[in-house]
Amino acid sequence: MASESGRNVLRLLRCAILVVAVLLTGSMYYTPSLRCLTQQLEPVHQEPLHVLVLVWLWPFNTTFKLDLCKSQFNVEGCLLTADRTLYGKADAVLIHHRDIVWDLSNLPKSPRPPHQKWIWMNSESPSNTDRIPGLDGLFNVSLSYRKDADISLPYGWVVPLEKELKHFVPPEKNKIVCWIVSNYKLEHRRVYYFRELQKYIRIHVYGDYFERHLSVEEYKEIIASCEFYLSFENSVHKDYITEKLFNALALGAVPIVFGPSRQNYERLVPSDAFIHVEDFPSVRALAKYLYLLHENEALYLRYFRWRRHFEAKTSSFPVEHACHTCKYIRQNKEYQVLRDLYQWYWDGSKGKDMPLFFY
Ligand SMILES: *[C@@H]1O[C@H](CO)[C@@H](O)[C@H](O)[C@H]1NC(C)=O
Ligand SMILES: *[C@@H]1O[C@H](CO)[C@@H](O)[C@H](O)[C@H]1NC(C)=O
Repeated sequence: MASESGRNVLRLLRCAILVVAVLLTGSMYYTPSLRCLTQQLEPVHQEPLHVLVLVWLWPFNTTFKLDLCKSQFNVEGCLLTADRTLYGKADAVLIHHRDIVWDLSNLPKSPRPPHQKWIWMNSESPSNTDRIPGLDGLFNVSLSYRKDADISLPYGWVVPLEKELKHFVPPEKNKIVCWIVSNYKLEHRRVYYFRELQKYIRIHVYGDYFERHLSVEEYKEIIASCEFYLSFENSVHKDYITEKLFNALALGAVPIVFGPSRQNYERLVPSDAFIHVEDFPSVRALAKYLYLLHENEALYLRYFRWRRHFEAKTSSFPVEHACHTCKYIRQNKEYQVLRDLYQWYWDGSKGKDMPLFFY
């Protein structure tokens, strides 16, 4: 702010000098000096210097740091607060879907200031998102992993390396296929697929359901020590591609994905960075292919060629989401209402069901 007003003072000073020079030396610089003056007089349309975003519900009832937008995500002009007494001043109110109660009784009760926008924030898939009544026409902006959300923030992505690598060497392996799972339900299609695959190849399974809760360190170590990792989504929906994929990519295991179409994955990651269960006509054919890669190092290493040019990143929920909200609010002043939230989110993103294979 200080540097901005400093620049304005400098500009005015330059203008004044020009005008004085014109007066002293005759009319040679008459036009530029006039333009300079009128530019000073016309108000320049600018983004507001700051926007105030009120975090109404702590996501999953967990606090997070509110002052990291500039330092971690290079988002300027962002004031995040959780102080509800600032409701009347807030430019936006961030509301995490999972924490809204069924009858909306924990949402703000005071009238909404005319400029204020309510943000509907949700990172779960439609299958795992309660269809609470009364949401249509309540929010102004959507924030989700969906590509067509107003504020779209996927679970992860790949970015080019600053300096390309000659070789990328994956970490040492002592297992072929691994899976870490906490939400293990027999009716989930991914579990069905896992159980079929297990008939052909040994799968090392970890996580809450199978043994115990893993620490972050254990989680990373396990994934890195496996040639392949089952990045199986709990439900199949458009754009619903979670950290299960990006963690495997970052930790140096080849992800086997179960989720939306290959095409959908390729919007976020290189096509040769993962194996899609849909690439194979049967579970058995996938198992055969995994053995082939296990036996043939050159073929296996082809899944790491992209690592010479890119690296995988994951988004930081929810702080990065809050900062992106600020950025959006600073840039978008138009009137907006989400009139068809159910249609858009629940009805409009049913993924194509994965085929089930029996042989
Ligand atoms: C949220 O956390 C606070 C503090 O830990 C606790 O007192 C409160 O009961 C929690 N609320 C819900 C809805 O879980
Ligand atoms: C936000 O949505 C509400 C509810 O539909 C509406 O009354 C309000 O005008 C909208 N505000 C903006 C700034 O778009």
